Amino acid sequence: MSKLSIRSLDLKDKRLFLRVDFNVPLSEDGSEILDDTRIRETLPTLEFALRRHAKLILASHLGRPKGKPVAKYSLRPVVDRLRALLDRALGQSVNVAFSPDCVGEVAREMSQQLESGQILLLENLRFHPEEEANDPGFSRELAGLCEIYANDAFGSAHRAHASTEGITHFVPAAAAGLLMEKELTFLGKALQSPEKPFVAILGGAKVSDKIGVIDNLLRKVDALLIGGGMAYTFLKAKGQEIGGSLLEADKLDVARAALSSAEQRGVRFLLPVDHVVADRFARDAKTRLISGTEPVPPGWMGLDIGPATVELFTREIAGARTIVWNGPMGVFEMPAFANGTMRIAAAVAENQAALSVVGGGDSVSAIRQSGVAAHIKHISTGGGASLEFLEGKALPGVAALTEAGDGASAA
Ligand code: 3PG
Repeated sequence: MSKLSIRSLDLKDKRLFLRVDFNVPLSEDGSEILDDTRIRETLPTLEFALRRHAKLILASHLGRPKGKPVAKYSLRPVVDRLRALLDRALGQSVNVAFSPDCVGEVAREMSQQLESGQILLLENLRFHPEEEANDPGFSRELAGLCEIYANDAFGSAHRAHASTEGITHFVPAAAAGLLMEKELTFLGKALQSPEKPFVAILGGAKVSDKIGVIDNLLRKVDALLIGGGMAYTFLKAKGQEIGGSLLEADKLDVARAALSSAEQRGVRFLLPVDHVVADRFARDAKTRLISGTEPVPPGWMGLDIGPATVELFTREIAGARTIVWNGPMGVFEMPAFANGTMRIAAAVAENQAALSVVGGGDSVSAIRQSGVAAHIKHISTGGGASLEFLEGKALPGVAALTEAGDGASAA
């Protein structure tokens, strides 16, 4: 990675502003954290900074409160979870204070009083409209809290906000945290120097969400395996009867263009060859298995890939040396349509010779549901960010980081 790393900074007794992505799923009233993966994934950076006696100021957004304080989007419930996780990771208790605002008098005073080895968590950055507006005055105020800045929020790196981009203009240097570094290393390796064969698996509902990813990956992969609702627009483009399956009629041309680009490049573009179809979009719908040559009957819809497709895809996955997966193969939230996604998760986990990278909220939940998460080489904490990375777009939060070599004087 060509960016300045937190590893090369002298953190001792310095106020370190660390942008994290603690945008975690909460219960309806906002009081309970339902999944703390994103908090746990930042622990190595927190531990690194605390062991080097930094004074740690953590800042994050949570949800989309639209620029004003909203109680259910408060970061306050994170304090106890953070304390508990750090106690376990470090084997000693860590002082975690909470500032009820991320800027202003209270944030300034609390950050000044911070001692080495202590943490101050700031309230939700998005309680101020200036965060998403990337307002320079607000960026300067955030920068005023610290002596050193680092960004560990890969999940927010596709946003050019005050705490991810603007602030970097007001600090001596902007370093990558350990999670940011890990994400860029794994995703970067998969995309920039993949060991061949390189197989990408794409799923999810819509072609329109993934067309940028398909275009970019077609230039790099040996095989593209397509499942999920988006497969039906491709099947329709090839002349198949898809019944009431999901169709983006205005994307048929885009689908045809992708199919012909794959052919020209010699990329194996594999679509489902059999389907679990249902008479309704419901848990208790009537289901049937149909082969790829049979038309999907009118009113019926494909909600999962069938066993012949699982076999076809599994053969490709087993021979791969690099695997990138984004998007489920079917409606895995409903047990009747979960088999395809679970079997593909197992196939990816089975191939231990490959660098396997999974990104995107739904595929990550599917991997966790399948129980094979520990066997995947890298599970990204980024949803939108990992998608934009796979599209080949520059992420503003990454672009704003100091190049390695330029930050030595600031360290
Ligand atoms: C995410 O969950 O993808 C990130 O935290 C970014 O959140 P946002 O889509 O609300 O900007």
